Amino acid sequence: FSLRQLNTFGVAASAQAYLPVSNVAQLEQVRQDAALAALPRLVLGGGSNILLTRDFPGLVLHIGIKGIEIVGEDDSATYVRAAAGENWHQFVQWTLAQGLGGLENLSLIPGSVGAAPIQNIGAYGVEIKDSFHSLTLFDFETGEQLVLDKEACMFGYRDSVFKHRLRDRAVVLDVTFALPRQWQANLRYADVTQELAARGISQPTPQDISAAVIAIRTRKLPDPAVIGNAGSFFKNPVVTAAQRDALLQRYPQMVNYAQPDGSVKLAAGWLIDQCGWKGRTAGAAGVYEKQALVLVNRGGASGTDIAQLAAAIQADVAQRFDVQLEPEPIFL
Ligand code: EPU
Repeated sequence: FSLRQLNTFGVAASAQAYLPVSNVAQLEQVRQDAALAALPRLVLGGGSNILLTRDFPGLVLHIGIKGIEIVGEDDSATYVRAAAGENWHQFVQWTLAQGLGGLENLSLIPGSVGAAPIQNIGAYGVEIKDSFHSLTLFDFETGEQLVLDKEACMFGYRDSVFKHRLRDRAVVLDVTFALPRQWQANLRYADVTQELAARGISQPTPQDISAAVIAIRTRKLPDPAVIGNAGSFFKNPVVTAAQRDALLQRYPQMVNYAQPDGSVKLAAGWLIDQCGWKGRTAGAAGVYEKQALVLVNRGGASGTDIAQLAAAIQADVAQRFDVQLEPEPIFL
């Protein structure tokens, strides 16, 4: 079964078996079927955070469970539940159409609702953990459905328990968000305030912020439907304040953001750009012209082409800055 259409890098790879999943009963059936249960599993949502470097000798579960509903309300929040197979951006737009703010900074992030908590998606000063309430998962080991609250998900920067202890075991079925009744604009990012100012907006609504974020992302990031990519290919590396100070001595222009815990986040895009990679091409893989953090498939690239380019970039950045870049997508 070809996975080419199911990963936003658009690389060719195949799977031994493929099952589109539209309800939880199908997952239980897989679990009960000795032959299917014995296969390695790959859970796929929108395919926007994965690099397929080889064929997959197992079963791809393509999660297409649908449904969005408001499930409750109290003094502080409106609770909205979306099934894992809903498209993330369409879900955000649905909440905004209901007059519910909170997710607008996360507009236009590719992928599905079920994938969003896996890496705690984030953009423009907001992460999903900020309005996350709980999720339901199917546990392949026990066949049980479990509800996990925010604490149990152990969210970090592009990280959660699903990348560690629950990897290969949990399938997210739905996610519930607590959207605040007292909404406040998150305008910590200069990109967003500048875009709003350019539109003459000083008291933005959630819809205004969504429109601004969509405009910024459209300018900076390639549309996966047009040019294969998986968004930021590397996480922004976190270093100590001492490392930052040493680097600033040599590179006074270096972009860096102090974190609440005293550590410092560096801009991986800046580091890669400084090494001269922006816009470069290696075979059929390349570094996007407008954002060095995004690797692209220029047409016919294999996952290995992209992985090799990534390794060359990591080696350059390590040599020049003594900083190790960590990929954001999951490698297969
Ligand atoms: N920069 C350069 N050259 C480049 C790219 C960036 O010098 O080629 C500099 C920029 O000038 C800026 C800094 O690096 O000073 C940071 O760039 P930007 O604001 O574009 O954000 P980012 O750190 O590259 C992160 C997230 C994005 C998210 C944006 C906005 C990560 C790995 N990436 O990108 O998330 O949309 O901030 O919040 O944290 C994603 O995860 O796929 C993603 C797109």
